[in-house]
Amino acid sequence: MVNAKVVLNDGAVTTYANAVQGGHYSLYTGGLTGKHDNVRCYWEDQLRGSLIAPHLHRLVQAKGSQGRGIRIADLGCGSGEGLRLLTSWTIDQAPMQIPGNHVLPTDLIESYTGCDLSEDMLREGRNNFCEWPAVEFCKGDLSQGFPLRNYPTFDLYFTSYSSFSHIDSSAMKRLFREIVEHARGGAIIVCDWLGQYSVEWPCYWGQGDKGMLDYSMSWLYPKSPARRQTHFPMRYWSGLEVRAVADELTAETGIPVRTLQLADISSFVGRHVQTRLYNPWVNMVRQGINMLHEENVRTDLNTLRVEFRSLSGFNEANIFYNNLMRAWNLVIDYCLDRMKRPVSPLDMPGWQKFPVSLQSALITMERVFQVAECLKMGDVRANVIEPQLGYALRDLEFSMQEGLGCGHALVGVFEVGQDQR
Ligand SMILES: C[S@@+](CC[C@H](N)C(=O)[O-])C[C@H]1O[C@@H](n2cnc3c(N)ncnc32)[C@H](O)[C@@H]1O
Repeated sequence: MVNAKVVLNDGAVTTYANAVQGGHYSLYTGGLTGKHDNVRCYWEDQLRGSLIAPHLHRLVQAKGSQGRGIRIADLGCGSGEGLRLLTSWTIDQAPMQIPGNHVLPTDLIESYTGCDLSEDMLREGRNNFCEWPAVEFCKGDLSQGFPLRNYPTFDLYFTSYSSFSHIDSSAMKRLFREIVEHARGGAIIVCDWLGQYSVEWPCYWGQGDKGMLDYSMSWLYPKSPARRQTHFPMRYWSGLEVRAVADELTAETGIPVRTLQLADISSFVGRHVQTRLYNPWVNMVRQGINMLHEENVRTDLNTLRVEFRSLSGFNEANIFYNNLMRAWNLVIDYCLDRMKRPVSPLDMPGWQKFPVSLQSALITMERVFQVAECLKMGDVRANVIEPQLGYALRDLEFSMQEGLGCGHALVGVFEVGQDQR
């Protein structure tokens, strides 16, 4: 375990420059490792969509009825990953008979302005999206307030993958305030931080007032983490702290900031469960979950079981993790059992008292087992049952989360109300 030593202040800039220049940032290395592993693509990207897409959909429809597209600011945009995300999400339960299902078709983007501190990232972004109309990338520093203050108002103030954790609490409060003051009523603000109570880093629990603490991107280089500059300081946020900032802002500015969503993402599967860099006892399940989603690969389901150790003084987080652990392990145990013999989840001891999200995961898996054998998908265990188990665990984690900061990421969606002054 590393101690929480903060290395260079410009560590983040160097780390991102190395990642981009070495080609590691965009490189697709298959579903088992790298930036775009299966957990990232099938869990983390999609869960952000579940949180944000319904609000984006509403925004797009409202602007569409005025004959307009939407204006987007992406803060700490990196190489423009946010634009890819926003245009990839689909409308939940879109009617089967309609051909289009994207929440934000590209022709409904009036403008996208990506802003980042790293020249290397910006260059990569310009390159990635050179053929997209209405897209621009510009340099700006989030630690100095809202860098796009001279632009006309945006409809969506967006960020993704913990960019806001790069700045400290007072810079965050200033940035949030300047965004709210820049926005018009009805605008949506999406924030994305590192969660303070992740099982990846119990050493940081309750350390919000310590400010910036070490983070490493060593997971990007599983074969040679030691040779790389990968450490930089980050701010880890709890749900309580975030809610307090939003409330404080409303009281100070007179502009209501409504929390529409506050959610934990990747409670048992964050990047650093696999590196064990900040927690030597955490279960290394990300690799196994990646394998669940891999075609023609069978996973040893026993490696997916988790064991959570409570930490004294953190009642809420302990209760959350213990409940999730029990439910998670029961789904895995059920599947292990169901592979050997037909067994109904309704016959499981304690069924009546299971939370609804657990009952739903178990029933879903039972249905998958029933239909799997009729599908011509090669190895149905590897290609049907295991990916569906991945989705069942993902949905279980997501439906049980409480936005406490108990995940690798803490994502908030806020709506700016009308100025009351
Ligand atoms: C984890 S990356 C996320 C990038 C992108 N949002 C994504 O989803 O892939 C964090 C980004 O924040 C940028 N960043 C760090 N500190 C910043 C600052 N003070 N001002 C602006 N951008 C910053 C980094 O250069 C990097 O591109």
